[in-house]
Amino acid sequence: MKGIIVAAGYGTRFLPVTKTVPKELLPVGTRPAIAFIVDEFVASGIEEIAIITSRRKKALDDYFDREVELEELFMREGKADKLALIAPPKAHITFVRQAQMRGTGHALLQVRAFAAGQPCVVAYPDDLHVGSPPLAAQLAEVYGRTGKTVMATIHEPGDVSRYGVIDPAGDGITVKGFVEKPAKGREPSHEVSIGRYLYTPEFFDLLDEGWKKHGGGEYFHTYALDRLIAAGKVAFCRTVGERLDTGEPAGYLDAILRNAAEDPGLRPVLERFAREKLGLH
Ligand code: G1P
Repeated sequence: MKGIIVAAGYGTRFLPVTKTVPKELLPVGTRPAIAFIVDEFVASGIEEIAIITSRRKKALDDYFDREVELEELFMREGKADKLALIAPPKAHITFVRQAQMRGTGHALLQVRAFAAGQPCVVAYPDDLHVGSPPLAAQLAEVYGRTGKTVMATIHEPGDVSRYGVIDPAGDGITVKGFVEKPAKGREPSHEVSIGRYLYTPEFFDLLDEGWKKHGGGEYFHTYALDRLIAAGKVAFCRTVGERLDTGEPAGYLDAILRNAAEDPGLRPVLERFAREKLGLH
């Protein structure tokens, strides 16, 4: 199984910082958000990862490269802990550029050759997963049972209008419909898609077929997904664990706070803040 991270977007919700810093490199603690996804992939047994970037995101390539000068310095100084911090991930990472921002379907077509012949987990880097088993492994488990494309979901009891929402079949595993960002009151359920998919090779064939007919403007992954759903070839996987949404500033702050709460060095800062600024004891 291979992994793909769709990271070409502008990150406009984080302007102005994203004029120069890719959204995926904004840190949660001392590590960029995208590193959490690479870790999830590696922990799921994925050894080949493609990251879809764009010309404005060169820093992503640099982040995953080796830092030879620092490595030599830490070796000389015998600083094994610092060496471990800058070690590149235990996966081979390929960077593929999307030359024009023409939608998620177009982005995924850039890695069609990379994806050929086996199931691939696709991650939107806004959605981080905390918990065990790692989310990509959860999707692989459902694929192993069904042989279908798999969408990761969570149950969202509140407003779901900013999500893709699935219509689950009575068997509790098949997706029989999907509505992207339904108007309030028009949602088929409260089972929402989060940014992880396991796509079978057929998904990429359908994507290519749709692209050839596509007139102009943006082209979305939903073209292929809708066809697979109509053929009964999509399953869903209710995510076990916590999902953090770093796609907008409030969710990003929440991810930072939750990360700090788990870090013995940072937790006292949170506790002091809660006492002094929020009046909590
Ligand atoms: C994307 C997907 C949507 C999904 C969401 C999860 O939307 O298109 O189906 O529910 O990610 O984060 P976006 O947030 O990129 O608008």
